[in-house]
Amino acid sequence: MNYLKLNNGIEIPNIGIGTYMIEPDDAEMSVEFALKNGYRLIDTANAYMNEKAVGRGIKKSGVPRNEIFVSTKLWPSVYEDETSIDRTLERLRLDYIDLLFIHQPTSNWKEGYKQLEKAYKLGKIKSIGISNFEGKYIKELLETCEIKPQVIQVEAHPYFTQDDLRSIIDKDNIKIMSWYPLGHGDSSLINESIFTELSKKYNKSNVQIILKWHIQMGFIVIPGTKNQEHIKDNFDIFDFELTDEDMEKIASINKNVRYYNRTDAQLEHFKNWKPNFDNQK
Ligand SMILES: NC(=O)c1ccc[n+]([C@@H]2O[C@H](COP(=O)([O-])OP(=O)(O)OC[C@H]3O[C@@H](n4cnc5c(N)ncnc54)[C@H](OP(=O)(O)O)[C@@H]3O)[C@@H](O)[C@H]2O)c1
Repeated sequence: MNYLKLNNGIEIPNIGIGTYMIEPDDAEMSVEFALKNGYRLIDTANAYMNEKAVGRGIKKSGVPRNEIFVSTKLWPSVYEDETSIDRTLERLRLDYIDLLFIHQPTSNWKEGYKQLEKAYKLGKIKSIGISNFEGKYIKELLETCEIKPQVIQVEAHPYFTQDDLRSIIDKDNIKIMSWYPLGHGDSSLINESIFTELSKKYNKSNVQIILKWHIQMGFIVIPGTKNQEHIKDNFDIFDFELTDEDMEKIASINKNVRYYNRTDAQLEHFKNWKPNFDNQK
């Protein structure tokens, strides 16, 4: 594992484990197992309803807190609730969060971002993130924010390489954290012939080649899995390097196509989804 330096000097591991759609018991076990097997970055969110389980997994791992990088996300329904960050900390049983994102550009996201800036100044969060803020939203945010974000978490994989976004954020050294790095497990992406060819060349799996590509693109990658073999394999990618020629071949399969095309109606739906986040296992 390597670390990337964020634009505020904080260092972040370039690979971690994602916990989207992972039930609390599985999330607890996966987080504990991942940390015991060398991972130091965990990604969760209010909306995944597993922050309490993630907190338990962190404690059970026995890994010192200062070695672990925890990222989580505020959901739109709590952007204007001044208790939301403290309650997120309580669910995780942590006294600071390494990276807190605002999850979606909807509802009163400017107020949500101000909450992050305030918590950052108070030391409750060590870095600020935005998620799903491509296009007009990232431009508006960068024009209006007081503190520039350190990380943007967005869909990114070899079929969708976020070129437009990168041309906007590179000058502020804002790092991309890739979600759906494996296309949410899409077999046509994973089985692309270029990955099979490179898997033979390096004696690695197709998934390991894809994860290495993310890292060599400069992305932070957080594959989601509760399968212990996959957790171990996904971390075992630091004994080989893709060449420039390999990277060029992978670039040729870019389709500039997302798996998840968010609509304004979905943003409206997110705005109206108001679960009780404290009511989770
Ligand atoms: N900010 C956002 O709006 C947002 C949205 C989506 C996701 N995320 C974050 O990004 C993370 C990653 O996204 P994701 O989990 O949805 O998708 P993903 O990482 O692209 O794919 C997950 C799928 O890949 C499979 N997989 C993982 N490792 C594998 C391996 N070594 N071999 C074969 N299959 C493997 C998993 O199956 P197995 O369980 O069988 O391993 C799972 O079905 C999430 O967990 C979450 O933390 C954020």
